[in-house]
Amino acid sequence: MIPLTLAEIAALTGGSLAPAEAAARTVTGPVIIDSRRVTDGALFAALPGERADGHDYAPAAVAAGAAGVLAARPVPGAPAVVVPDVTVALGALAKGVLGRLPAATVTGITGSSGKTSTKDLAAQVVEHLGPTIAPEDSFNNEIGLPLTVLRAGASTRFLVLEMSARGIGHIAALCDIAPPRIGAVLNVGRAHAGEFGSLDAVAKAKGELPEALPADGVAVLNADDPRVLAMAARTAARVVTFGVRDTAAAVRARDVRLDDLGRASFRLLMGDVVAPVTLRLHGAHHVSNALAAAAIAAELGMDTQAIAAALSAATVRSRRRMELHERPDGVLVVNDAYNANPDSTRAAIEALRHLARGGRRGFAVLGHMAELGDIADDSHAEVGRLAAQAGVAGLIAVGEEARPVLDGARAETGWHGEAIAAPDAAGAVAALDNLLRPGDVVLVKASKSAGLWEVADRLLAEAAP
Ligand SMILES: Nc1ncnc2c1ncn2[C@@H]1O[C@H](COP(=O)(O)OP(=O)(O)OP(=O)(O)O)[C@@H](O)[C@H]1O
Ligand SMILES: [Mg+2]
Repeated sequence: MIPLTLAEIAALTGGSLAPAEAAARTVTGPVIIDSRRVTDGALFAALPGERADGHDYAPAAVAAGAAGVLAARPVPGAPAVVVPDVTVALGALAKGVLGRLPAATVTGITGSSGKTSTKDLAAQVVEHLGPTIAPEDSFNNEIGLPLTVLRAGASTRFLVLEMSARGIGHIAALCDIAPPRIGAVLNVGRAHAGEFGSLDAVAKAKGELPEALPADGVAVLNADDPRVLAMAARTAARVVTFGVRDTAAAVRARDVRLDDLGRASFRLLMGDVVAPVTLRLHGAHHVSNALAAAAIAAELGMDTQAIAAALSAATVRSRRRMELHERPDGVLVVNDAYNANPDSTRAAIEALRHLARGGRRGFAVLGHMAELGDIADDSHAEVGRLAAQAGVAGLIAVGEEARPVLDGARAETGWHGEAIAAPDAAGAVAALDNLLRPGDVVLVKASKSAGLWEVADRLLAEAAP
């Protein structure tokens, strides 16, 4: 963070100093919420956790070098800025710090699927233009976004931020903390359908990003998704569209081809300039993400050839998203278990179908897709049907909530693969041990809460030389 005294932090957050002598202490290090990550001069934000209360760790954080604490109550032994709500104060602090960095341009990225992937791509392109701050992994909410913004310093020129919504007003609040000049909306899908109730409600929430843009800003909208394209009417900013299918989009991909491992090559079209791209990410769905990243970089001043080269060099920065590992016996394990919703599962099954083309047999291990509310059973059945249509040799549904996956697959007449219900990750691995032959490919996918990366990890560990 830029150096600030606790008095300045109190002023920016509307907090009070406890004790008053804390005023002159200067924060020169990062803002952290995990006391184990304290470095000299850090500001430790004491958040209430599920198991532990950050305030209990505040004295230890100060003893380890923290300059002070952002807290909801005075903490004996720790110089603190005391605020009513530490999360709200983190946002206010981030907003205040950003206000002191006029040279930094903020880009916000939202959508139901692909935010982290697109943020990672965009950051790796924009970095060529100047010092760039982007979130670690999926830091995209009212805590992660301010923590990311607070990493910016005087030299920062670009912030590429991920913005998530679990309800109406969430993205508007994030845009208030870090007002974007560029805002990209990737898609409107069924993630968190349980909370939102309908796709139109999801669109309403995601559209808060284009709504927050200034007249001299740029809304980067996916022309392939009608609900996203319609957001053009909700912004004062100039609109730039991207699309894989829409031939009228300003940023397009032509001649998309996938290699044996599902990595896309295409010609990037921007205006009348064309440049070749070969992605290192697996799955056709990343073409759309790459186009969004290209549109963002172009608006920040990068030329098409440089964008294409940077996209082609970009690597996977965040784990468990279409991560491919080949075992010594030739079994290909696709760890896509970071998260799942019906749309990203469809994309993963499409990728599995492609990977299984060259004679490999395909297996899908699918677990619970969380937060789908009323559409949960139907959505699980639907992905089961898709897996069957993709011709998987075996389908393993892990956990009770994923059972409808098997019903969906069995309803697909003409599918003759194995349908197996496994109680947990260990059960899925045991089933696979009996089924897998050298050269097969296994997709592992579920929501975070299912923790199914354990299946992928075990499959790889047991085959390690
Ligand atoms: N454009 C896309 N369409 C469908 N699925 C996608 C797309 N981009 C990425 N995915 C898949 O969605 C899953 C999550 O990807 P990613 O982490 O990039 O999304 P996210 O929007 O950041 O998710 P979260 O809401 O959990 O932060 C991965 O399995 C990924 O392969
Ligand atoms: Mg994410």
